Amino acid sequence: GAPVEVDISGLQPGGKINAEWRGKPIWIMRRTPEQLASLKKTDGEVADPQSNRTAFPTPEYAKNETRSIKPEILVVIGICTHLGCSPVDKFTPGPQPSLPADWEGGFLCPCHGSTFDLAGRVFKNKPAPDNLEVPPHMYLSDTTLLIG
Ligand code: FES
Repeated sequence: GAPVEVDISGLQPGGKINAEWRGKPIWIMRRTPEQLASLKKTDGEVADPQSNRTAFPTPEYAKNETRSIKPEILVVIGICTHLGCSPVDKFTPGPQPSLPADWEGGFLCPCHGSTFDLAGRVFKNKPAPDNLEVPPHMYLSDTTLLIG
């Protein structure tokens, strides 16, 4: 499929917009400073903090703690790497059903309970074999992303 341009000028801190590329949902999220700080806390709790696994290889430019080109902007494919269900947003920190008491915010797959932090990194001992996939992407300008 052809690359897709996405205008992210209206993306507010803490907000997320959806796009589509090759029939797949693309999530683009602008993380707040607090959400970025939460990644330091989840670093020791995720299965592959440096994104070295290869089931869904992470592009070199996203092999970092934030899994992104710009620290605040997350770009991932919104499909669970286990069996392909759609994870749901669980951005509110703290105790909630199906989530640990020290939840920092992230995504929950309702099918078999895989949880992902706000960088799409899968937590340890979950069925998903890899972090959420980062699609190939680049910035055409400060406010325009090219996916694909
Ligand atoms: Fe997501 Fe199984 S499909 S945990």
